[in-house]
Amino acid sequence: MKLILLLLVSCIVVLSYASHQNYPGTSTRPILSDWEASQYTESNYLNGWSPETINTWQADYTVGSGKQYSSIQEAVNAAIWAGGSTRKYIRIETGTYKETVYIPSTSVPITLYGGGGSPDDVQIVLSLSAQTTGTEYTNIVNPNWQRYKSGDPAYSMFEKCYQSATIGTSCSSVVWIKADNVQVANVKFENPSTAAQAVAVQTNGDKTHFENVHFYGFQDTLYLHAGKAYLNNVIIKGDVDFIFGSATAIFKNSQIIGRADRPRTSALMFAPSTDPNNSYGFLVVNCQLSAESKVASSTGLRLARAWDSGVSSGQYVPGVSPNGQLIIRDSSIAKGLNVNAPYQTSTSGRAFSTSTSSSRNLNDNNHNRFWEYNNSGDSA
Ligand SMILES: *[C@@H]1O[C@H](CO)[C@@H](O)[C@H](O)[C@H]1NC(C)=O
Ligand SMILES: *[C@@H]1O[C@H](CO)[C@@H](O)[C@H](O)[C@H]1NC(C)=O
Repeated sequence: MKLILLLLVSCIVVLSYASHQNYPGTSTRPILSDWEASQYTESNYLNGWSPETINTWQADYTVGSGKQYSSIQEAVNAAIWAGGSTRKYIRIETGTYKETVYIPSTSVPITLYGGGGSPDDVQIVLSLSAQTTGTEYTNIVNPNWQRYKSGDPAYSMFEKCYQSATIGTSCSSVVWIKADNVQVANVKFENPSTAAQAVAVQTNGDKTHFENVHFYGFQDTLYLHAGKAYLNNVIIKGDVDFIFGSATAIFKNSQIIGRADRPRTSALMFAPSTDPNNSYGFLVVNCQLSAESKVASSTGLRLARAWDSGVSSGQYVPGVSPNGQLIIRDSSIAKGLNVNAPYQTSTSGRAFSTSTSSSRNLNDNNHNRFWEYNNSGDSA
């Protein structure tokens, strides 16, 4: 009797912990061992950079109605014109700002922060998509040619976009950060366009730090194009490839949400395009991954596909083409995930492939570089 009870109890325990997180995982969902996971640390991704606490009390420039500047771009221009290597703090007062913000490459370290109690109090929102025409773009982004004038620090960024027939993914960015050492806190960025790829924020600079920031969009919401980025305590919402690019980035203590209100019944979170020689692409740690309820339960959500940037269909070359790298660890994954096939075929048509061998090389570019470790939740 005792034995039967014991068997019954252990059976229930096994059933209620039907986790997919056991090493080495499967051919569609590979899982790291403790030893393999030990190299995927914050310090290996950051490689000598330690993001500082973002100071949100100093204000060298203030933006808001009735303040020193009415647009964020004007304050950014002023900080760059001031020059030097001392950090310049731009405080943005509560409100909705319908403008692009371009931070070109500069030696001036810039901090942008919202002065409200929550990120949603300071919204930077504009609807632009890859299909927006150069003429529409000019009318929206540079009305009366007053916001970007020849000679302004960011004029060349505007100039590269406005002459195109349709502006393309990069130029759809509402906020575009090319400078190194930019810090951003307490704001919400949104690109509400559902017409095509529509980027809310693009980063090309090194050491970009986001703290307590919301990123809302649909396809291609957050473009971490190059350099290193550190995102702590953020919310990122989108539906297709909504966190993508070649950067090395850490997502920590954050919420990543697949949205269904386009409407869509599926969502795909990450599309990294990491250099094949870079072992550190995207590290997701202590995050909550979820999908809105209309994303088809148990099949609608995918974690990632490799963005083989610049590679035509069937032309992937191991070690030469980019090969997205992604670790999702110590996080919760709520229901909605296709638990048996969380990774999709790459953009150049490579079927997802991995190794479950005990002697596997985690950076073998003949395979994908997507791994999970120690996740919890309904889909873990
Ligand atoms: C990666 O490194 C190898 C060896 O140094 C080099 O031959 C190759 O061009 C590099 N690949 C890329 C995409 O930089
Ligand atoms: C597993 O993840 C949890 C957070 O969900 C964390 O507290 C714990 O330390 C992790 N365990 C290991 C072995 O890393």
